[in-house]
Amino acid sequence: KVSVAVMISGRGSNMGALIAAALDAGFPAKIVSVISDKPEAKGLEHAREFGIEALAIPRSDYPSKADHEAAVIAALDASGARIIALAGYMRLLSGDFVKRYAGRMINIHPSLLPAFPGLATHERALAAGCRVHGCTVHFVTEGMDEGPIIEQEAVRVERGDTPDTLAARVLEAEHRIYPMALAMLARGEVRMSGDNRAQFAG
Ligand code: GAR
Repeated sequence: KVSVAVMISGRGSNMGALIAAALDAGFPAKIVSVISDKPEAKGLEHAREFGIEALAIPRSDYPSKADHEAAVIAALDASGARIIALAGYMRLLSGDFVKRYAGRMINIHPSLLPAFPGLATHERALAAGCRVHGCTVHFVTEGMDEGPIIEQEAVRVERGDTPDTLAARVLEAEHRIYPMALAMLARGEVRMSGDNRAQFAG
C-alpha cells in the first residue's frame, strides 16, 4: 500500500473519509500521518482514535513561513509518506513546497473548478444563480485551486438552498470522490505530466 499523509486545519471530515476508505483491505493506500497547522483541529483527535500519528505544527511556533514549511516538510519526510492529501488545509503553500511534492500532492475543493477558486464557494455559487455546483479533487500546483483535475462530482442546486444546506450535500460528494481520486493516484491510474496536465492510464 502507498503511504499517505493528510494535512488539515479543522474538522477533518474529508480526512475521516480517507481513513475510513483506507480501512478496506483492497484500498491501495494507507494513512500514516495527519498534520494540522491548528492544534485545536478536531481531526487530530479523530485520527489518533484510529491509531494514526497526528501532529500539530502551528504557524505561530515559527518566525517565518519558510521556517514553518521546513518543519512541515521534516514531519512529512519522517512519516515516509509518498502522497500528500490536503483536506481542508487552509494555508497557501509556497512554490518551493509545491514543487517538492509535484505530482504527489492533491487537494479537495468545494466547487466545480475552475469556477469559484478560493473561499465562500457555496455563497458565491448561490449568488451567481448556478443550478449545478459540486466539488473537485486536483493536483496541487503553485496557483491556488488551479492544478489539473483528477475527479469531480456535480451537485444540483435546489430551490430554497442556503449556503449551509448546499455545503452539506457538496460535502457528501467530497467524501465520495476524495477516496476515489486518492485510489486512482495510488494505483498509478492518473499522473501529472511535466506540463501540469492530468494523464489517465488505459
Ligand atoms: C471542505 O469542504 C474542503 O473542500 C474545503 O474545506 C472543507 C474542509 O472540511 N477546502 C477548501 O475550501 C480548500 N480551498 P473538512 O475539514 O471537514 O474536510
